[in-house]
Amino acid sequence: MKRILVTGATGQIGSELVPALRSRYGNANVVAAGHKKPPHQGVVEEGPYITLDVTQIEAISAVVRDYQIDTIFHLAALLSAVSEKNPQLAWKVNMGGLYNILEVSRENNCAVFFPSSIGAFGPNTPRDNTPQDTLQRPNTLYGVCKVSGELLCDYYYTRYGVDTRGVRYPGLISYETLPGGGTTDYAVEIFYDAVANKPYDCFLKPGTYLDMMYMPDAVRAAIELMEADATGLKHRNAFNITAMSFAPEELAASIQTLIPGFSMRYTVDPVRQAIADSWPRHMDDHAAQEEWGWKPQYNLEHMTRDMIERLSKKLEHR
Ligand code: SER
Repeated sequence: MKRILVTGATGQIGSELVPALRSRYGNANVVAAGHKKPPHQGVVEEGPYITLDVTQIEAISAVVRDYQIDTIFHLAALLSAVSEKNPQLAWKVNMGGLYNILEVSRENNCAVFFPSSIGAFGPNTPRDNTPQDTLQRPNTLYGVCKVSGELLCDYYYTRYGVDTRGVRYPGLISYETLPGGGTTDYAVEIFYDAVANKPYDCFLKPGTYLDMMYMPDAVRAAIELMEADATGLKHRNAFNITAMSFAPEELAASIQTLIPGFSMRYTVDPVRQAIADSWPRHMDDHAAQEEWGWKPQYNLEHMTRDMIERLSKKLEHR
């Protein structure tokens, strides 16, 4: 990895992955590409920032050639709940975008990181200790794109030798940038209300267990996998990774240990509840541990403490 392109650079993962990559590989060597969302000040000031529509293959091709890119972190995509609202657009961006990235990578010999998700599983997948290799029949358009994406990445590796790698991310919790329309967003929104001393109205019902991860672990996972010795990788794409699994009431209880007055009520959103009910409660991530040494650093308690501290500081300075 010497010259890196990050698509979706203004999104929840991108806005933290870009600075991490820049501090590791040099500011000028990491090109941040956003689309419609205005970029975070730091992303523009610290290194190259461009506007890129991943549905336009010629535009991707030009950027890869102009900047002599050798590695692409392809993060641009619509999240699960937004994809259900507009499945046609989700197919175009999530699937069309990935296909374009893989084609350009085949022609220009780039390595590709593709984030899959817990959304790649479906209602008949085993929900506890979800195996690395198991039945995947998701019933959301987001999930259909993720499974297809995992397979397409495998195909480009075996057929063309493109160095594709990826993980199945759980719900990601972060204080820098809000997620844009996912099913696990409650686990981020809850902190904004908690630090503002407001009650939170949760859209998933109690007992809805899902895998989750704090963003510093998620960023580190992407970098470590891309730097891992390829000879140790048997799976390459779509490694299950997790750091914790909890239900909304357990997150609320964890917050209450630091903000005792915090309270939560529930107004269930049937669309997002149905999506959550089709996803794993807890994935088995042994393949990632064994093949490239994956190990999370943040559990529920540690993440909660850090989120509250950092988000309080961030909101104070506004
Ligand atoms: N966090 C994502 C979502 O909820 C899943 O990958 O859409």
